[in-house]
Amino acid sequence: MDVLIETERLYIRPLILSDDIGMFEMDSDPEVHKYVGRKPVERIEQSREVILFIRAQYEQLGIGRWAVIEKGTDDFVGWLGHKLMKVPVNGHIDFIDFGYRITRKHWGKGYATEGGKAALQYGIETLGYKEIYAMTDIDNAASRRVLEKLGLKYIETFPYDAEPNWRYPGEPTTWYKWMQQGE
Ligand SMILES: CC(C)(COP(=O)(O)OP(=O)(O)OC[C@H]1O[C@@H](n2cnc3c(N)ncnc32)[C@H](O)[C@@H]1OP(=O)(O)O)[C@@H](O)C(=O)NCCC(=O)NCCS
Repeated sequence: MDVLIETERLYIRPLILSDDIGMFEMDSDPEVHKYVGRKPVERIEQSREVILFIRAQYEQLGIGRWAVIEKGTDDFVGWLGHKLMKVPVNGHIDFIDFGYRITRKHWGKGYATEGGKAALQYGIETLGYKEIYAMTDIDNAASRRVLEKLGLKYIETFPYDAEPNWRYPGEPTTWYKWMQQGE
């Protein structure tokens, strides 16, 4: 396994095509999609397309979301990490967006926080990112809590304005930023 980051309970590595079953289980769940566009996938081929799309980002942009794997079981937990945003969002373009998605059976175990902390640190220390942003639905309390636990600072709420993407235009979206201490 091509592991990039190891935490106490998780491996983080690039997404591979054989993650399709885990991705499909996660993304066909309407609960998972409640705050991320409300368009769960219906066929496993759609999950394969997403994996290929992200793998193309690794090649073309040098970065993209990574798979999270549970140690011991090798279970697919979800994805997280850095994405280079090539479309303008809230007045920013070509910025690093930090995100995560966890399959429902693994919610509430602290995995988004544990993997998120390690991936954020990797972005700062290994990849040299100076500014990292994140956004989430204003009502997505679990995700907002994770961002707080990762140490990102709430900046503002804006009407979602990127197209095409995982939100509908105008949806109230919170904007967070990772800042170096003292900034
Ligand atoms: C948001 C998500 C990533 C959280 O993953 P997770 O592994 O369960 O998160 P963690 O266990 O690390 O932390 C969740 C925190 O939110 C809290 N939380 C969960 N549901 C909550 C709710 N409804 N209201 C307030 N806080 C809530 C938990 O108590 C925990 O905080 P704590 O450690 O202080 O108790 C996961 O629910 C998910 O993938 N949801 C669907 C996709 C999504 O919304 N992604 C984010 C889009 S920006």
